[in-house]
Amino acid sequence: MPSLDQALLAALHNRQDLLAELHAQGTDCYRLFHGSQEGAGGLTIDRYGRQLLIQSFHQSLSRDELLQLAEQCQASLGKQLLLVYNDRSQGNSRIDRSDPVYQAEPAALEDLVGHEWGLNYRVRGRHAGQDPLLFLDLRNARGWVKAHSAGKSVLNLFAYTCGVGLSAAAGGAREVVNLDFAEGNLAVGRENGVLNPELTPMQFIQSDYFPAIRQLAGLPIAARRGHKLPPYPRLTPRQFDLVFLDPPAWAKSAFGTVDLLRDYQSLLKPAILATAEDGVLICCNNLAKVALADWREQVMRCASKLGRPLRDCQVVAPAADFPSLDGQPPLKTLILQF
Ligand SMILES: C[S@@+](CC[C@H](N)C(=O)[O-])C[C@H]1O[C@@H](n2cnc3c(N)ncnc32)[C@H](O)[C@@H]1O
Repeated sequence: MPSLDQALLAALHNRQDLLAELHAQGTDCYRLFHGSQEGAGGLTIDRYGRQLLIQSFHQSLSRDELLQLAEQCQASLGKQLLLVYNDRSQGNSRIDRSDPVYQAEPAALEDLVGHEWGLNYRVRGRHAGQDPLLFLDLRNARGWVKAHSAGKSVLNLFAYTCGVGLSAAAGGAREVVNLDFAEGNLAVGRENGVLNPELTPMQFIQSDYFPAIRQLAGLPIAARRGHKLPPYPRLTPRQFDLVFLDPPAWAKSAFGTVDLLRDYQSLLKPAILATAEDGVLICCNNLAKVALADWREQVMRCASKLGRPLRDCQVVAPAADFPSLDGQPPLKTLILQF
């Protein structure tokens, strides 16, 4: 078993070509160390622009270990970065906000800007949520969206901070609609829009997924017996040229349960119906225990049951900063062309 600094050294060495490529394409947000696959489970090191974000998920790092890791990254990149350490070894990956090991300097916790595919993104080392504001393993999918959105209407479902919507706008989409039930996440999406003022402005719908997508798909919204539904925004049925479906692994609301293991179908079916006859649906499943082949099978079956045969089904894998020893990365993305 290599020591932590040897493991990081190897990871940084393995990324040299990728990082040159990313810098050339206007990207300075990427993973420098993907511990589970590179020799230190429960540890990740990411660069977000000027910020270096180190996160531990199993056990806390000591101050010496932390500073040594940061020093190695900075030496390899030839850049001083602002260090933020988020120890998430508590239950539910909650960030320990008492900073017992290392207190970030105030500049590291200010609102910063990171870049991906030439776009500006809000970077914040600490905020109300637990995860960083941009999920880095989705970069290649966002790149595909940017390259294939010209002139299209785009619906970004479970939009979070609207990175997919922003990529569509940058690719020349004529209309971009982001949908999420969390106003705080959409607020960062709005900031991302403001940080890229040259793009067509995006639209934002704050709604639970189920009533929104079922209305767009022209399906009824049923309450469970004896339960009254909370209010929800009214939408007219319509289809989009490109739909992006990237749900969380599990989430329960008054309208339904998002459950990627047991019931992908109830998310996928209305999303297919809200995709134009000759449109594209990009769908994701980030649950490690779901195998790509099984999930792809389910997805194809659902499309065929709805009488929507596919012209093509393509897999987009995360980039090499998310290596996978068994070739089965947790994040699986399919591009379905109808
Ligand atoms: C894993 S993130 C999605 C990542 C996002 N697609 C991206 O590109 O970064 C999950 C998002 O789903 C939202 N969410 C979870 N359950 C929801 C529901 N029932 N309806 C609408 N949004 C939901 C959360 O607020 C969160 O923003």
